[in-house]
Amino acid sequence: MEKIIRIKETDSTNKIAKDYIRKGVKSGTAIISNSQTAGKGRLGKSWVSVPGKGLYCSIIIRPACKRDQFSLITLVTGLVVADIIEEISGGNAQLKWPNDIILAGKKCAGILCEAVLDQQHSDYVIIGIGININLSVSDIPSQIASKTTSMAIVAGNDFDINDTFNKVYHNLLKAVDEYCEFGFSQFYENWRKRDFLQGKKTSWCTVSKDVVVGKAIGLARNGEYHIQDDNGNLHEVLSGDLTQAEK
Ligand code: BTN
Repeated sequence: MEKIIRIKETDSTNKIAKDYIRKGVKSGTAIISNSQTAGKGRLGKSWVSVPGKGLYCSIIIRPACKRDQFSLITLVTGLVVADIIEEISGGNAQLKWPNDIILAGKKCAGILCEAVLDQQHSDYVIIGIGININLSVSDIPSQIASKTTSMAIVAGNDFDINDTFNKVYHNLLKAVDEYCEFGFSQFYENWRKRDFLQGKKTSWCTVSKDVVVGKAIGLARNGEYHIQDDNGNLHEVLSGDLTQAEK
């Protein structure tokens, strides 16, 4: 089966990646769509997928590492995508734990990793990547306009979507192999250099919707994110959502 599958429109590339996995695909198979009608984000959110203006892709891999190492593939992917966005757009790309790429203070890309666990064969990870490449201000819905940007808005010119995909695809497969072989330590310092929240007043909304407000201490070596509340208690964040509490 072809390794790069290009389609015009789908509901979600992550969703059809699961159908391909059921049929049996090689590690490194990627699905890239010109548009999505129901792009998925983390925590049940949706991903606005303006036709022909962004990169909407899912890369299917069979990682050569254990299941308990899968969760940090999100962080490794974030770093790969941030490096490429910065290289291509020239703007300073930062990371908001665990999976947002921030350009000029606003979200420009997001990552949705999903594991497909299999008893008989080896496990798969679907790495879904959405990058706002050529969206203009009028393409962004008003509800998310204050927090969302694109490479074109920041740089003032458009970029080649396919060229961006090729760079992401190549660098990501290499980075995941390196992560599986050598661990997260080689990515850790670079991730911290790009940390958007570190030192800022931050609000952590847990999956059960409790809210903790404190100072962002930063990423720990095991991939958790640390927040210290006003009473000095340290919170080790493994799930939920982090946002900057005030500017
Ligand atoms: C997030 O920021 O919460 C994650 C967004 C991930 C969006 C990408 S677009 C391609 C792939 N297919 C999806 O349905 N979602 C991911």
